[in-house]
Amino acid sequence: MTLGRLVGLLAGHQFLSGQELAAKLGVTRAAVWKQVETLRSMGYEIEAYPRQGYRLLSRPDKLYPWEVAQGLETRFFGRTIEYYDELPSTNQRAKELMASCPEGTVVLAESQIAGRGRLGRKWFSPPGTGIWMSLILKPQLPPTQLSKLTLVAAVALSQAIYDQLNVRPLVKWPNDLYWNGRKLSGILTELAGEMGRLESVILGVGLNVNQKPADFPAEIREQAASLWMIKERPVDRKALLRHYLEVLEAEYFQALNNGFDGVLEYCRQYSYTLGRHVTVTNGAQTFSGTAVAIDGDGGLIIDQDGQHRKVIAGDVNLTNQN
Ligand code: BTN
Repeated sequence: MTLGRLVGLLAGHQFLSGQELAAKLGVTRAAVWKQVETLRSMGYEIEAYPRQGYRLLSRPDKLYPWEVAQGLETRFFGRTIEYYDELPSTNQRAKELMASCPEGTVVLAESQIAGRGRLGRKWFSPPGTGIWMSLILKPQLPPTQLSKLTLVAAVALSQAIYDQLNVRPLVKWPNDLYWNGRKLSGILTELAGEMGRLESVILGVGLNVNQKPADFPAEIREQAASLWMIKERPVDRKALLRHYLEVLEAEYFQALNNGFDGVLEYCRQYSYTLGRHVTVTNGAQTFSGTAVAIDGDGGLIIDQDGQHRKVIAGDVNLTNQN
């Protein structure tokens, strides 16, 4: 984390001499110079003058752990971050890590080459434009309650986006965020453990942030949204990620301690699903009807010709037939 400490020291935007920096970091001046070179190669703009020292001019748009940690107001979430320039999938990496890391550990990647979506689909995760992250949770919850954690993640993300950008994406039950009929974010929750014992819940979140329409592959271009497309300007990924972790941590502990009522109410109030004609696929079963309610278990109630059917998990397709 010395690189992070050096950035922190330089963040005051004043010149600091190599000697001062060396003393503060407990290293030699030559080591400071080497680290400055490393930071430059990572995209930091740092000027250096012989008598004045070093000054930070700009930071790169990267989710380096020390950047995300700066000003992060959480107790657990994001206190440990594993950062990669590229990974096959952050969910996959989180599964490898989960047994040996504390709750709240986050795996981040600037890009994923095998980003996973639900039902074996791919998740398009190009470099530097989105937030591709997995959070490791170790909740004390009965297995029947676990599916509601996906809703907690969706609600927290919608709320965090609202707080930062004044737009509120809708929750498509149970794990997507939509804006103007387009998918902005997808959540892949995976339960992982060994010998029949649940060890961790991996909350994988993909959020399209700074893609422009042309950046999406043709096959999803008409269905995908990004925050750039909504705000018509670049959005600060670091600030958004930080705030998301804060809101998510608060919502998570609130749900564990006091139940999921608040989360479920949000899902009802800002729902993209309720009132629409849907087709649900659950394993080999497929059926259609109107989504009429989200019940106290977080299940979706479908009205099928006057008969109510409850769905706990499944893939929901909106079929505009009303
Ligand atoms: C979906 O909409 O089907 C869910 C998409 C989930 C994508 C995220 S990106 C970070 C994490 N790692 C993955 O491989 N997938 C999730």
